[in-house]
Amino acid sequence: MSILEQKAAALYGEQKYPEALDIYLSLYKKSPKTEKYSIFCGNCFDALGDAEQAISFYKKASKLNPVSLTSLIALANVYYNHGDYKNSEKFSYRILKKSPDNVSALLNLGNIAYCRNDYETAFKFYEAVYKNNNASYIAVVNMANTCYDLKRYVKALDYARLALKLYPSSVDAYIIRGNSYIELGRYEKAENNLLRALDFKDNNPWIYNALSRLYQKTESWDRALDAGWNAILCTKETQKEQQINFGYLLYECVEEKGAETAAYYAAKWKNAFPDNKIVAYMAEAILNNKPVAKAEKEYVKQIFDAFATDFESTLSGLEYQVPEYIAEAVRQSFRRESFLPIKYLDLGCGTGLCALAVKPLLGWSEVTGVDLSEKMLEEAKKKHIYNRLIADDLSIFLETEKNSYHIITAGDVLTYFGDLQNLFNGVAKILNKKGLFVFSVSENNCNDNDYFLTPSGRFIHNNDYILRLLKKTGFEKLSMERKALRNEGDKVVYGYIVTAKKILTVEGN
Ligand SMILES: C[S@@+](CC[C@H](N)C(=O)[O-])C[C@H]1O[C@@H](n2cnc3c(N)ncnc32)[C@H](O)[C@@H]1O
Repeated sequence: MSILEQKAAALYGEQKYPEALDIYLSLYKKSPKTEKYSIFCGNCFDALGDAEQAISFYKKASKLNPVSLTSLIALANVYYNHGDYKNSEKFSYRILKKSPDNVSALLNLGNIAYCRNDYETAFKFYEAVYKNNNASYIAVVNMANTCYDLKRYVKALDYARLALKLYPSSVDAYIIRGNSYIELGRYEKAENNLLRALDFKDNNPWIYNALSRLYQKTESWDRALDAGWNAILCTKETQKEQQINFGYLLYECVEEKGAETAAYYAAKWKNAFPDNKIVAYMAEAILNNKPVAKAEKEYVKQIFDAFATDFESTLSGLEYQVPEYIAEAVRQSFRRESFLPIKYLDLGCGTGLCALAVKPLLGWSEVTGVDLSEKMLEEAKKKHIYNRLIADDLSIFLETEKNSYHIITAGDVLTYFGDLQNLFNGVAKILNKKGLFVFSVSENNCNDNDYFLTPSGRFIHNNDYILRLLKKTGFEKLSMERKALRNEGDKVVYGYIVTAKKILTVEGN
């Protein structure tokens, strides 16, 4: 190694990446055909977060030495780290062609499958690493984790025990054991393992979350709330996921133990995070101290982005029937009056369940979907039923949309709005005369208010309010049927499927 190379390596080791990069770039310029300089430049760019440049240098290195695995491994890793699973997969398989037992490629493929919730495939890749090297802690702990996700709790316990043999202070292994014991109903063992995990790392929110879940199971609400509170204290304020977990915990607490205890924590939570919009919204849903007109955008985005890949399987378990009811309402009222394509807009389209049910009833049509959650839209795109998918807040979309539509649906989305006046006005503005607006609302069975924000963070509406508002915004009600929309916990959520026809041109149209 030349003196310059030694200097660059030392700078890289000290994480002084810009300085190391300067030297490697000068070496590369002097000797552009030397594979290692391209690799080193790529590594520096990668460390500096410039994936595009890193990839370009790794590709140069790969051309210089097509039989080398170094650049292929670097490419597979950089793509994986930037969420480009397709390319990471491509390079991982190229590596396996040359070297079928390559650990880096097998782990990458396992992780990609895991991120896609394909736990069976993920397990197979981790197992392949383990078969080649039964001292690989990473393989074993990932096998344990994957078994947990596959609900194979006894196996998860076995692999987590093995992981602890290989790495006795593994916090992850203790958490997996704690969670598995919770699922198996062995609460004392669960607590022992989770407390052991805390001994090693007392600022890990996931340990506190698991403890909170455990105490909920044993109905020790004070301890559950205390553990939940610790989870948010040891996380950065910006970590939305933990804040939402705590909001859900308060909601469960209202349901199981009553509003008083939850209200105490909700007030404390709001005070501790005064600038956090998700906290303000979820705490208000518990406290109900002041009117709230609409769900907080950040909150909606966060929950549905996180929920997108599991949305349909979860909802089918909750007997979610809104898309079918909406389709039935469309079947009853829709009459094609034109040979031109029917322009159909699906508001809060989510993963596309409403359009999937409605589009076949329309014949030749152009379908537009709008939703706040980009991850839900990614799922919708896979169905190939939409001509246009737009990521936007409905309030903004309706204000700015210039196209007009024959039919507009909104399935289980108005539950994220309290005051519906602007939304109905917006729909009326872009609906053709005699156009149909078909939507669902959840029924307000708590009080006589027009709308009410429940501790779950969702709004429920009074049917008189809906009827009044339809009239006011230029619609004629064609039907309003009370239905069981879905289950929530062990309760059935009732609501209305409403079909309205636009009769007036409202202001601004
Ligand atoms: C319960 S899902 C229903 C999805 C779909 N309509 C269905 O029936 O399966 C509610 C959807 O409304 C979206 N949503 C809620 N508030 C929104 C807003 N202000 N703007 C746009 N989309 C919103 C959410 O992102 C989510 O995808």
